[in-house]
Amino acid sequence: MNIQNFLAQKIYKSIILAGAPVNYQVQIRKSEKLKFGDYQVNGIMTLAKKLQMSPQILVNKILKNVNLNGIVQKIEIIGPCFLNIFLEPKWLSAQIDYALITQNLGITLNQKQTIVVDYSSPNVAKEMHVGHLRSTIIGDAIVRTLEFLGHNVIRANHIGDWGTHFGMMIAFLEKQNMIDCCDIALADLEILYRDAKKAYDEDIDFAKKARSYVVRLQNGDEKCRRLWHKLVDITMKKNQLLYERMSVTLKNQDIMGESFYQSMMEEIISDLKKKNIAVSSQGATVVFLDTHYNKSGDNVGVIIQKKDGGYLYTTTDIACVKYRSETLQADRVIYYIDSRQNKHLTQVWSIARQAGYVKNNIQLEHHMLGMVLGKDGRPFKTRSGDTIKLSDLLDEAVHRATNLILAKNPKISQNDLQNRAEIIGIGSVKYADLSKNRTTDYIFDWDSMLSFKGNTAPYMQYAYTRVLSIFRKSGINIEEEILGSTFLFNEHSVMLGIHLLRFEETIQKVAHEGLPHIMCSYLYDLASIFSQFYENCPIISEKDKNKKTTYLKLSLLTAKTLKIGLHTLGINTIERM
Ligand code: ARG
Repeated sequence: MNIQNFLAQKIYKSIILAGAPVNYQVQIRKSEKLKFGDYQVNGIMTLAKKLQMSPQILVNKILKNVNLNGIVQKIEIIGPCFLNIFLEPKWLSAQIDYALITQNLGITLNQKQTIVVDYSSPNVAKEMHVGHLRSTIIGDAIVRTLEFLGHNVIRANHIGDWGTHFGMMIAFLEKQNMIDCCDIALADLEILYRDAKKAYDEDIDFAKKARSYVVRLQNGDEKCRRLWHKLVDITMKKNQLLYERMSVTLKNQDIMGESFYQSMMEEIISDLKKKNIAVSSQGATVVFLDTHYNKSGDNVGVIIQKKDGGYLYTTTDIACVKYRSETLQADRVIYYIDSRQNKHLTQVWSIARQAGYVKNNIQLEHHMLGMVLGKDGRPFKTRSGDTIKLSDLLDEAVHRATNLILAKNPKISQNDLQNRAEIIGIGSVKYADLSKNRTTDYIFDWDSMLSFKGNTAPYMQYAYTRVLSIFRKSGINIEEEILGSTFLFNEHSVMLGIHLLRFEETIQKVAHEGLPHIMCSYLYDLASIFSQFYENCPIISEKDKNKKTTYLKLSLLTAKTLKIGLHTLGINTIERM
């Protein structure tokens, strides 16, 4: 149960009865300290002023109407009108038992949505680099979270697999006698791309040929299509290996790249013209949006078809959002892209909405991403100033994790070492990214991300193994149900219990806002609260049967919550460290 929402609804009812307007938003949040109860209601003073009522009278009215029998132990009024809610331990205990016997920790979905998540989206003929890290990892965490909650999730890997540069690449492969290139590696493609660009800029005949190949590709010429396919294949095979290595759930069938929408373009242009949304301007087709002006106050317009007939990134995205609404029937579309593309997306959406290409009530959201910076505060690059390839980054993470594990455990078998180094190394890179607010830039720092202290993957993974060891020591199988009922009877068990029950409001918030760092903080707090509980409550040696049952159940729910929580983030756990 989402306790926060549940309480908010109850209080909402009595606040309305006390005279508040129906659109009143109850301000309820978790209390910072145990002595302030479990939840706090704020904002009553402001409401009293609005209603021209004395705060005391308003509070009394609210409390008289609220029905929380059996749920709340007491409600304390602090100052004139702050309400501190203390939940009833018996009720909390029953919620713990319920979470333990139900699937998905007892979380229920109010409204199932079809949600398209656009993420990762690398470009063909280029290796994924550190710039794709955030979109890939954060996007995947949200996909996992939404799926856990029961939504119908459609992964969309909007790869950059179309554009004039493909004509150039194909012409260059031909020039180099490489049209039967089955075994080109992606790294070689990058070099080829650079050389092709050079030839394109320097050799007029080559440039002409390259342009003619763009047209042939568009018209479905067999040879061009075959080569283009090969380029996409080479790129995405390598990327797929990276996805698997990072436990990113994207598969080949999730690729819906720019090329996928090309057949829709011609019709969209003529339709937009027919609807008087697009106009011809100096040979090109342009949409003038009354919301988009440049710095000098001119309405510059968004080009959707160039003079030479070519379509643009914007045109593709218009077709793409239309497809997602009309064909995929999305209720919500979330884009995990760099914040620098915000203007692009708002233009696309505004054109699509004007043209009626998307359902009125569709939620279109750009979940913006800040950048990954080096220690110097500038975009993270290699010493020589090149972008850092994702595969190199992962290799280094695993290498560093190997040393770390060996230092702690020199006798470990080679097999175990490799296994754990992958999980800890890659987990560290992912967690470091996930635990920062996605909207801001962050500094990439190996030492802090691989530390066993603080909000890091190694710390969280270790915390999980510590909980498991309790079960190993007491000879209890974690998969088995522990008989008997929970009874939260002391401060430590109440504190842990209430935090465990906040998992639902946490995960729903993550799903709503697309902010996985909220889950990271929650799990980190859980690990700390569990540590305190463990130090103060003799779980294994406890003689009183009821108390022991409660301790074990809380430990079991902690283990499950940590595992599920980390899993929704895409962080793997191990049994021993
Ligand atoms: N391929 C693009 C890039 O690397 C990202 C695409 C994002 N998705 C979209 N629908 N525009 O910048």
